[in-house]
Amino acid sequence: MFSRFRKDQPQTPPSPKSLPEVEAAKSNAQEVAVAATVPAEESAPARRPAPQKKSAAPAPTDKERRRRQRILEVKSELHTRLLDNLNLAVIDSASEAELRAEISSIASEALTEMNVVLTSEERMQLNQDLYFEVRGLGPLEPLLKDDAVNDILVNGPQRIFVERAGKLELTEVTFKDERHLLRIIDKIVSAVGRRVDESNPYVDARLADGSRFNAMIPPVAVDGSLVSIRKFKKEKLGIDDLVRFGAFSEEMALYLEAAVATRLNVVVSGGTGSGKTTTLNALSSFIDNSERILTIEDTAELQLQQVHVGRMESRPPNVEGKGAVTQRDCLRNALRMRPDRIIVGETRGEEVIDMLQAMNTGHDGSMTTIHANSARDGISRLENMVAMAGIEMPLRAVRSQIASAVNLIVQASRLQDGSRRMVSITEITGMEGDIITMQEVFRFERTGLEPDGRIIGHFTGCGIRSHFSDRFKRWGYDLPHTIYDVVRGG
Ligand SMILES: Nc1ncnc2c1ncn2[C@@H]1O[C@H](COP(=O)(O)OP(=O)(O)OP(=O)(O)O)[C@@H](O)[C@H]1O
Ligand SMILES: [Mg+2]
Repeated sequence: MFSRFRKDQPQTPPSPKSLPEVEAAKSNAQEVAVAATVPAEESAPARRPAPQKKSAAPAPTDKERRRRQRILEVKSELHTRLLDNLNLAVIDSASEAELRAEISSIASEALTEMNVVLTSEERMQLNQDLYFEVRGLGPLEPLLKDDAVNDILVNGPQRIFVERAGKLELTEVTFKDERHLLRIIDKIVSAVGRRVDESNPYVDARLADGSRFNAMIPPVAVDGSLVSIRKFKKEKLGIDDLVRFGAFSEEMALYLEAAVATRLNVVVSGGTGSGKTTTLNALSSFIDNSERILTIEDTAELQLQQVHVGRMESRPPNVEGKGAVTQRDCLRNALRMRPDRIIVGETRGEEVIDMLQAMNTGHDGSMTTIHANSARDGISRLENMVAMAGIEMPLRAVRSQIASAVNLIVQASRLQDGSRRMVSITEITGMEGDIITMQEVFRFERTGLEPDGRIIGHFTGCGIRSHFSDRFKRWGYDLPHTIYDVVRGG
């Protein structure tokens, strides 16, 4: 009845396949043979379902584990049959309901034929998983749909971690085997016109929903493919949310508003996943709507709310090693596009030179992030990046370039309890001899640890008036000096 989605002839020759699919197909022959021995064993426990244990024991028993493994095998076999039976050319045009109905019908036939009996719950789960295999990203799909998940980290087919509320946890989700994982990776990268194979074993891509995706496959990835996904959040955290979550204080928000509005050049520094991009995005909300902003990123993550925004995304070389467009290329081009402000998602290489020059030459109010553990460390990173870019410049000249380009370093950090906080705001005040001078104006004072592991602490001023107070005042941001007062914790 759903013949529209079935192939006219079941035995149509396969279309040319990419590497993982070919491998998967090769092994499927073996799997079918194995599956043929499964039904009798499979159906026995299913017909007489074992009394449901009231999940008192959290760890799955051997029996449960075996059954789960069998279901995975059945699923894999069904998936192969689906690929054989479904007309892939019209799958994309099918509605979700139609496709689900068709999958359910093919699965039913196949289960009967294989003499496998599943509980209705297992059937529903199986149909859902098969739908995700055909149209989505297989086992990763439920994790992508779970709003509480920030990051998905795959360490080979059997170990999938997620980050929830700042904490990493191992999930029960698994791929059947490495080939299954490779097939999903291939599906993702080929959808964006990229390829991953032995000669090109790692890849960066952006998923259809905007999530950032990176994968590395064996043999470079020793124990199975490694995948990292930073989920794209439609609802970006704004300044108010961050204050509410305790990422920084209202006083700091007031100060940052003045700093961004009066066009100080801001660098957000932090470790991986510490909230740099989120902070940058939130800070951008203080930019006036009339300004022309150009953003440059490796993977477009920023979501600026202003009207006049031009977004650029760098591009890696193609398979022949050609066609790369670096962040530096974008930045140089951006300077010819009359920007009021330039925002570089993350400065990590040679583009640092152009970024510093832009900050020094009329594009003040520009912002970027860097990977560093403190403001001082951030300065060293910038120095190193200049040196690595092959610019022969005396260290003092590099430092003075940095000191006059960067006004503010905002340090983001993911603390051990999983919370993300702005642990310090530091102003660059100039040079003394060969040394860049700076002063901390706000910081997070850590005072203790709750029994449940949560960090106790509070934000405080450092008792020093901002170096930019006069500038703030001239621009109409007359901040009360009490915001810089030291707060003593209880
Ligand atoms: N203050 C916060 N409270 C709760 N969640 C946050 C906070 N800041 C950031 N996040 C979440 O943490 C995750 C990582 O944030 P973000 O992408 O900004 O980090 P990053 O430092 O830019 O990471 P990377 O180094 O990988 O680029 C995101 O999912 C984001 O929504
Ligand atoms: Mg980032």
